[in-house]
Amino acid sequence: MLNYLISQFVRATEAAAIESARSIGKGDAHYADKLATEALRKILNSIDIDARIVIGEGERDEAPMLYIGEELGTKNGPRVDIAVDPLEGTNLCAAGLDGAIAVMAISEQGGLLHAPDMYMQKLVVGPKLKGKVSINAPTQETLKIIAKTYKIPVDQVTVVVLDRPRHADLIKEIRETGARIKLITDGDVSAGLDAAFPDNNIHAVMGIGAAPEGVIKAAAMKAMGGEIQAIFKPKDKEQVERMQKMGITDIEKVYFTDDLAPGDDILFVATGITHSVSMPAVEFQKGAVKTYSVIMDSKTQTIRFLQSIRKDPPLR
Ligand code: FBP
Repeated sequence: MLNYLISQFVRATEAAAIESARSIGKGDAHYADKLATEALRKILNSIDIDARIVIGEGERDEAPMLYIGEELGTKNGPRVDIAVDPLEGTNLCAAGLDGAIAVMAISEQGGLLHAPDMYMQKLVVGPKLKGKVSINAPTQETLKIIAKTYKIPVDQVTVVVLDRPRHADLIKEIRETGARIKLITDGDVSAGLDAAFPDNNIHAVMGIGAAPEGVIKAAAMKAMGGEIQAIFKPKDKEQVERMQKMGITDIEKVYFTDDLAPGDDILFVATGITHSVSMPAVEFQKGAVKTYSVIMDSKTQTIRFLQSIRKDPPLR
């Protein structure tokens, strides 16, 4: 069981959130990401684990830290795989917009799919809809099922969609049914949490986003009992070849939660940076800083909410 390490892992996302939050609204996405990455990596390196990054800041040649394959931790502990996004929603943080979080998923070795960094079509729903919807079904049909399951009229269904030109048809299809759309500029992990937690008035996330975020969301769905369905969307021949090299031969394959996060023992840890529906933002106070995190344990199906207050600047 990995859950004895929860307090260590949450220290890492808290540190990433606090450091990047110092740059909220300052317009420098790259700097915000650097602050988060450095802080998170420093804490991970101090934990008694033998960790390998399976989803991170990119390949070794494009990312100096938390690159795919980087080994971290003291090595005096369990072998774990980590999928990490120290700052999910870099532009949100830089622009001071809602939805930026520091997030990671930790599993026993082999518990998380090594998804190539490309686009992925995703459908994310909460526990009530698990097994009832299909990513390949017409949008209108999916929305009818959502409305029927939640016992609400279709015009009260809200779907989160990334505001991108590639979603013009999807947006039209959703609106034609009378359903509502919450358009977001970035941050589909936080949107996925909003859809899977009850009583948020967000019923699904639809559309195409990044594949690594799909794996991280799957780790959360595993503990929440929600569902993600996904299809890789390679943009060219090169990306198809990349998928094939990684052993993915069926390009049309629908990946379900357990395909993206097959491990039994998976932790999902996230700390809010800017505000989101499920997690308040980092709050700087006089001499202290407050953070809000969510920690999910797939093994025990436990979801914990953690509010922390620490001295700031920290005691050395
Ligand atoms: P970052 O973590 O790199 O800031 O990504 C944010 C994000 O909005 C994801 O949540 C989403 O899946 C992806 O970018 C969408 O990619 P694109 O901006 O290329 O449409």
